[in-house]
Amino acid sequence: MKILVTGGAGFIGSHTVKKLIKLGHHVVIVDNFNDYYDPRLKEDRIKILLKGLKFKLYRLDIADYKKLEKVFKKERFDKIIHLAAQAGVRYSLTHPFVYERSNILGTLNLLELCRHYKVRDFIFASTSSVYGNSRQYPCREDSRTDQPISLYSATKKADEVLAYAYHHLYGLRCVALRFFNVYGIWDRPDLALPKFIRNILADKPVEIYGRGQMSRDFTHINDIVEGIVAVVRKSFKYEIFNLGRSHPEKLMDFIKMIEKYLGKKAKKKMMPMQAGDVRATWADVSKARRLLGYRPKVKIRDGIREYVEWYREYYKNKTGRG
Ligand SMILES: NC(=O)c1ccc[n+]([C@@H]2O[C@H](COP(=O)([O-])OP(=O)(O)OC[C@H]3O[C@@H](n4cnc5c(N)ncnc54)[C@H](O)[C@@H]3O)[C@@H](O)[C@H]2O)c1
Repeated sequence: MKILVTGGAGFIGSHTVKKLIKLGHHVVIVDNFNDYYDPRLKEDRIKILLKGLKFKLYRLDIADYKKLEKVFKKERFDKIIHLAAQAGVRYSLTHPFVYERSNILGTLNLLELCRHYKVRDFIFASTSSVYGNSRQYPCREDSRTDQPISLYSATKKADEVLAYAYHHLYGLRCVALRFFNVYGIWDRPDLALPKFIRNILADKPVEIYGRGQMSRDFTHINDIVEGIVAVVRKSFKYEIFNLGRSHPEKLMDFIKMIEKYLGKKAKKKMMPMQAGDVRATWADVSKARRLLGYRPKVKIRDGIREYVEWYREYYKNKTGRG
């Protein structure tokens, strides 16, 4: 199949592209390499992680309808995997319009182009944070999601309902994937794991929000990619799936594991909850198991061990980065 992966130079996108190419698909990437974090990491994913693989790359902004339309006209896609977005809960408190542009206008542009260029399947990234401070754990796809507690999650919820309208009106087959705390090699430097490691190695205090009471359903990138690929193999009318590990870790235990594999203790600084952060994430993945055969496999210990090795190697000559 010919598949467009938006955000293909990103963390989840680049791993997804690699897997799709290995499965024999023709992949086209659209990414604007923006500088929310160091764009050299995005370039390196293309150069190193995707080395030797064949794909097409368009460097453009999905909020630019005209440029994006040229790609749709030329390429004729079978499926879209839409992962480009402005991610990050905290940044959305200070940069709301970046989220409006990439997450709402960008998604709307893609939906319109799917409609006009007769693309049948639209698979896209949502997030566990649409559940807000849920009253029910583990969170199921039909748990309440109309009380987001950050602008980021509000824009992702907006994407889910925009896609539903396009499904209803034009028969576009849509799947929303609610990812839960993805971690793994080549990840974003603003995520918990690289942030903690960076501070521990630099002898700086690790800031622990929620005074250590938070827990997160950390899910390895390989399991997430398996979930995405399982969706690509099928076709649904309109579905939402949680992709998590369904095994939340207390933040303090997570840090203990990092300390173990780094061989160094963290200086901890307890902080109150931050605006926009949820207390816990915990996926109920029974729907994904039933309909996709999704079975997360990577144990958190193995994932952290692999990550620490990669982190040391990748960042060894890159002072000030990471
Ligand atoms: N990483 C996680 O834990 C997690 C959890 C839940 C949901 N998600 C979602 O998964 C998707 C991928 O996240 P990620 O962690 O790989 O983030 P990422 O920032 O590494 O990847 C996103 C990519 O999209 C590109 N991009 C952003 N805005 C763009 C625009 N307007 N036009 C073109 N390209 C643009 C960026 O340059 C980047 O390469 C996002 O939609 C994110 O919201 C991620």
